[in-house]
Amino acid sequence: MQSVIAYLKKNQRRFVAELAAYVRFASISAQPKHAGDMRACAKWLANHCRQAGLEAKIFRTAGHPVVVAKTPRKKKSHKPHFVVYGHYDVQPPEPFELWKSPPFEPCVVGGRMFGRGASDNKGQNLAHLKAVEAYLKTGTELPCDLTFVIEGEEEVGSDNLAKFLQAHCAELRCGAVVVSDTGLPGVKLPALTSSLRGIAALEVTVHGPARDLHSGIFGGSVENPAMALCQLLAQLRDQNGRITVPGFYDDIAPLTAFEKKAMARLPFNKVAFKKLLGVKELFGERGCTPNEQRGTRPTLEINGLTSGYQGEGSKTIVPAWARVKITCRLVPSQTPEKITRLVRRHLEKLCPPTVRLEVEPGHGAVPYAVSPQSPAAQAALRALKKAFGHEPVLLREGGSIPIISDFKRILGADALLVGLALPDDNAHSPNEKFDLDVFAKGQLMSAYLWRELSVRHG
Ligand code: BES
Ligand code: MN
Repeated sequence: MQSVIAYLKKNQRRFVAELAAYVRFASISAQPKHAGDMRACAKWLANHCRQAGLEAKIFRTAGHPVVVAKTPRKKKSHKPHFVVYGHYDVQPPEPFELWKSPPFEPCVVGGRMFGRGASDNKGQNLAHLKAVEAYLKTGTELPCDLTFVIEGEEEVGSDNLAKFLQAHCAELRCGAVVVSDTGLPGVKLPALTSSLRGIAALEVTVHGPARDLHSGIFGGSVENPAMALCQLLAQLRDQNGRITVPGFYDDIAPLTAFEKKAMARLPFNKVAFKKLLGVKELFGERGCTPNEQRGTRPTLEINGLTSGYQGEGSKTIVPAWARVKITCRLVPSQTPEKITRLVRRHLEKLCPPTVRLEVEPGHGAVPYAVSPQSPAAQAALRALKKAFGHEPVLLREGGSIPIISDFKRILGADALLVGLALPDDNAHSPNEKFDLDVFAKGQLMSAYLWRELSVRHG
């Protein structure tokens, strides 16, 4: 183990350069024009795994390719087996003008690497790869077999990965899926995440006149679809921050006493939180703390809202249509199917007869929750403590990783969510960055984790 740690320490500079090379790919899964960058990134990653001593393969899917890399193993290995999951795709970098340095030209400032995907998720999955490289290059025997599954569609809902898991379920059977794609509250507060919110996406279009109309000639005598949509949306939430869709809160499992205690232990500084987000005041469901609101309560958010003329100057029209992109975040035991149905039904009920409503359901994922008291979770907590030198906290996170519940459903494996993203990493925002100290500590955590996990299984 000593030589693994020494190897990690000695090679940090090279690792940072390699992370920069990884971030340089504009692997934006949502934008078809970047399909070539997706393939190039997968190819780079597979090669990188090979250089680290792993056996790597690229698998095509109906969407973007999956990279699978295995530690060399005996044919009939009796070691425990773990899967490491991550994603090489990134969110769109727009708006470009808010980036202080170009999103795909990574630069290091003050011990942090700036670039789209540096934190979510390239830096985090590379930390695990580097830990395994350290074992393989120092000839230190790994106490377990590892298979990396690094996909290219996480940011667009992982539509094709479940099928891939099904097709490869025999070779992917494992004791746990280790994932660094969540957060930690601070460098001195490493964290194990015990739940993720699910998601239900829908796109709603309100159709008005057959074409954009002159708003002077016709305005006043015809419904304005943008106005109708705004009035519809405004009715979806009340003054107390509660979603008004009937049945929306019906299936929610109450917090256990253990969870309440773990939540109360989390630090929260309102002033710092407001400053981080750049808001005048916080807003949320009344009766819940901000940590509870983010991790344990469902939401209905407008992610995008479009209608009419968006160019320079003005254009006097009654637009033909208005559209909104909505996602609901879900908590145990809500399901995307039911929530989508409830929201659709409510919108249809509220819609005035002057416009036509079209509801297009999008991607969905069920929420995920796992006991933080299992032996595997305890092993992860020990590895976190050793690597970061501080007692870890338990988190219920607000983000979603759709495939995590499929790992459970298809492989029967629970996830160990040991995230490395700091709250100010700007995931999905301009000027995303990854803390290089956390990068190094994440590699250490991964190196310790295999030992801690395998003692129990071995
Ligand atoms: N890494 C995030 C998820 C995350 C972030 C979980 C922070 C917990 C804490 C992941 O890459 C992500 O952004 N997922 C999307 C999924 C969606 C597109 C279906 C999300 O949560 O918006
Ligand atoms: Mn993300």
